Amino acid sequence: MTMDKTRVKCYSVADYEKQAELKITDTAALGYFNGGTEGTETLRDNLAAFSRYKLRPRHMRDISTINTKQRVLGCDIDFPVVVAPFAFAKMAHPDGEYAVARACAGMDTAFTLSSWTSKSIDDVTKESSTGVKWLQLYLVKDRRVIVNVVRKAERHGFKAILVTIDLKIPSNRLTDKRNQFTMGNSELLRSPNASIDDTDQFHLLSLSWDDISWLKSITKLQVAVKGVMTREDAIEAVQHGVDGIVVSNHGGRALDCVEASIDALSEIVEAVKHSGVDILMDSGIRKGTDVIKALALGAKAVMVGRPIVWGLAVDGENGVKSVLEILKNELRISMGLCGCQSLSDINQTVIKKSTSSRL
Ligand SMILES: Cc1cc2nc3c(=O)[nH]c(=O)nc-3n(C[C@H](O)[C@H](O)[C@H](O)COP(=O)(O)O)c2cc1C
Repeated sequence: MTMDKTRVKCYSVADYEKQAELKITDTAALGYFNGGTEGTETLRDNLAAFSRYKLRPRHMRDISTINTKQRVLGCDIDFPVVVAPFAFAKMAHPDGEYAVARACAGMDTAFTLSSWTSKSIDDVTKESSTGVKWLQLYLVKDRRVIVNVVRKAERHGFKAILVTIDLKIPSNRLTDKRNQFTMGNSELLRSPNASIDDTDQFHLLSLSWDDISWLKSITKLQVAVKGVMTREDAIEAVQHGVDGIVVSNHGGRALDCVEASIDALSEIVEAVKHSGVDILMDSGIRKGTDVIKALALGAKAVMVGRPIVWGLAVDGENGVKSVLEILKNELRISMGLCGCQSLSDINQTVIKKSTSSRL
């Protein structure tokens, strides 16, 4: 048997990140996937912030079975790590969203299709007919477009809609500007009367919480808002009937100089703790210990973006599966070593905020 000496086995998400940087040879594509906005303060803090939280293990507890199963946005998943929406997956691997959706189905977790998908929603469903699928939506001005997309999602068995609320106007991505990277069109949100380049059609400037109530009124699918970073917005979201909130700063790709998502999580959990809405969190999750920290601070599940891009770039569907397997396994180990048999054992007693962030 001949071994591919160029293929290095990856044991962690960090390994995948390194391999993906070698694999994605187009500088503009790599800059788009890995970059953030302006001074990338938030991008960097999303990662650094996790080291400000320390775990508090409890020993001598029965951990002969460890159960990572979760129910979130009305869907049962095998472990609380779901795939965040990301645009133009085809730039990382020709199979793009097909590969990511199949990997999620194989790992029994949820896949979120981006509004800026590089494959059509019909084809993604055809190529990956099983598995939990959610749809990320930008609420464009033309409501006929939204109704059409929502009906399609319903027909194709999607279970939830995640409305992204943190990018009403394009953010200032300097790497993309320097590389002259330009976004293509969103086929999904194409209006019958206007192209997506028509800023009047796409602009979200007048979007308000009432649009969330309207969306809730036209569909029975679960509706979550993605991009909440303050208790005030979390309360508004609940008042407008959402089923879920994703605490997220878009992986440091929207407004720069906002706090790390993990730091914003507690205030949001506290603000809406009696509402029954599901809280998810993303931005900076790279390890199982990051997942357990987010759950200890009150998230029901986390979403991952760039780790999935890296797995996809390195080895398509298998790479994505492997990244998800690594995170699941690391979560199980962290749970076991913290003395947690199930996700309900992961609570505030498992974590403490450290005064030192030294590694
Ligand atoms: C390349 C890329 C494209 C993205 N595209 C979208 C998108 O189309 N819609 C959206 O709501 N979020 C998008 N995001 C944000 C992710 O959904 C998620 O919030 C973020 O990646 C989480 O941070 P992480 O990459 O550190 O895991 C994108 C992120 C990346 C890295």
